[in-house]
Amino acid sequence: MKSAVILISGRGSNMQALLEAKTGLDFRAVLSNRPEAKGLAWAAARGIATRTVDHKAHAARESFDAALADAVEAFGPDYVFLAGFMRILTEGFIRRFPHRILNIHPSLLPAFPGLHTHRRALAAGVKLHGATVHFVTPALDHGPILVQAAVPVLSGDTEESLAERVLAQEHRIYPMAARWLAQDRVEFRGADVVQPKGTGVSSDWVVSPRDSC
Ligand code: GRF
Repeated sequence: MKSAVILISGRGSNMQALLEAKTGLDFRAVLSNRPEAKGLAWAAARGIATRTVDHKAHAARESFDAALADAVEAFGPDYVFLAGFMRILTEGFIRRFPHRILNIHPSLLPAFPGLHTHRRALAAGVKLHGATVHFVTPALDHGPILVQAAVPVLSGDTEESLAERVLAQEHRIYPMAARWLAQDRVEFRGADVVQPKGTGVSSDWVVSPRDSC
């Protein structure tokens, strides 16, 4: 059985979606850079190992990342899921887990990397927005895309209403990606293109407006 750990910084709703779904992955621990992250208490209450590596205890990003990588490695996971983990990881960390770190990002990458994606999507007037699960590489929010889900932007949407519609899809596609990894169905085609085996193209998983409203 393949194993994983989850890194969070806050609420942890994606963490919860991963832990509650039947993914076939052995989630061994939840780690956070913030001791007060709400998701930590939720995981601990369910008997899942939790660890905090507080970034404030480290003057340099490199030393925090080295401590975090050691804490992750102690659980010997095959995969590391970033789920609302709000620190930019150094190349040093990423190179310790090549092709093994995943992230969920609340936009249809490569559109809107970085923060405030819903606000920026509304300001840009896009008609489709969504979420992306991708492998993490040193290029922020630009690693190989595994799965995306699109939602319509509706007239009258606020940042909050759009975020809520996107989040519902995040909770669907992150466990889906976990399941594919558990089943060893994820195939790299070159450095940048990754595809689940046996499902055709990943646009199979783009939801139509009818599904998502
Ligand atoms: C999610 O929207 C995720 O895509 C982004 O940060 C948010 C975290 O939410 N990276 P949660 O902590 O999973 O509830």
